[in-house]
Amino acid sequence: MNESTLKNWRLKITVLAMILGSGQVLAADGFELAQTNGCFVCHQATTKRIGPSFSDIAKKYAGNKNAATQLSTYIVKGTEPNGSGWQAEDKATLPHMPANTAVTPQNGLILAKWVLNEAGKATDKAKFVTNKVSVIGQVKQPLELSIDDLQKFPALQVKMMPHGSLSKEKPVPILVKGVLLRDILEKATIQTDSPYDVKKSAILITASDGYRIIFSWPEVFYSPIGEGVMLFFEKDGKPLADDEGRIALGSLRDNGNYRYMKWVKSIEVRTIAD
Ligand code: HEC
Repeated sequence: MNESTLKNWRLKITVLAMILGSGQVLAADGFELAQTNGCFVCHQATTKRIGPSFSDIAKKYAGNKNAATQLSTYIVKGTEPNGSGWQAEDKATLPHMPANTAVTPQNGLILAKWVLNEAGKATDKAKFVTNKVSVIGQVKQPLELSIDDLQKFPALQVKMMPHGSLSKEKPVPILVKGVLLRDILEKATIQTDSPYDVKKSAILITASDGYRIIFSWPEVFYSPIGEGVMLFFEKDGKPLADDEGRIALGSLRDNGNYRYMKWVKSIEVRTIAD
C-alpha cells in the first residue's frame, strides 16, 4: 500500500466513524428528532393540541407489544384513510395525522419508542425549569447561583398573595422563602466606568421562556420597592413546581398586580449611557 492509498483509507475510516458517530447521537435522542420534524407543532407532552398528547398515546398503547412497530408506520405514513379515532374521543382536532415525509422508517421507530416510553413523562412546562440563575453584565464578580447558593444569602420568609389574584375570589396567601435581589447585586457588585453612572444602571431579569422584567438601580437600592424584590425558591415549604420553578421573582411592593416572573434565568446589569 503506498502512502496516498493509505491516506485515502484513513480518510474513509474517519468519514465512516463520523457517520456512525452522528447516527448514534441521533439514535439516542427522540426529543431532538421530534423537534427537527415538527412533531411539537401538533403534539404536546401532556395536553391535547392538534393531535393527542404523548402521555395519552403512551397510555393507550401500554402493554401492546406491537405498538412500536405499528406506531412507527403511522408516524412515517400518517393515519389516513381510516384514522385511529383520536378526534372522535375529543383528544385531537384533526381526523388524521398527515404523513411525516422527512422521517425515515428507522427514525420512525426511534420516535415511536420515545413516544411510548418517555415523551409524555415530562410536563409541558418542564423544559423551562431553571435550577440556577446567572448574574452578568456590568458587575465585578459575575455569579452563577444554584438553589444551594441562594440558600446561603440572608433568607426571607414572607406571606404573599398569589400573582394575578386580584380577579380571583378569596385568594389564600402563600408563604414564600427567598432572597432579596439587592443582596445578590451587592455580592456581584455593580461596576461602571464612573461611580456616578451606577445611578444610570438598569437591571434586566430574563426568564427561560424569554419573558423580561426591568428594574432601575435607584429603585432597588433607594426605594421601598427594593425591599420587596425577591427571588424565591420555596412556597409553603416546598420547592417551586415545574410550572414556575425552581426560581421565581416577585416585586411584592408594587401597587396592585405586582411584577412577577417564573423560570428566572439571568440577572443582567446594564448602564443606560447618554
Ligand atoms: C399536522 C399535525 C401533526 C403532526 C405534524 C404530527 N402529528 Fe402525530 N398525530 C396528529 C393527529 C391529528 C393524530 C391523531 C390521528 C388519528 O386519530 O388518526 C396524531 C397521532 C399520532 C400518534 C398516535 C397514532 C395512533 O394510531 O394512535 C403518534 C404516535 C404520533 N401522532 C406521533 C407523531 C410524531 C412522532 C410526529 C413527528 C414526526 C407527529 N406525530 C407529527 C397530528 C400530527
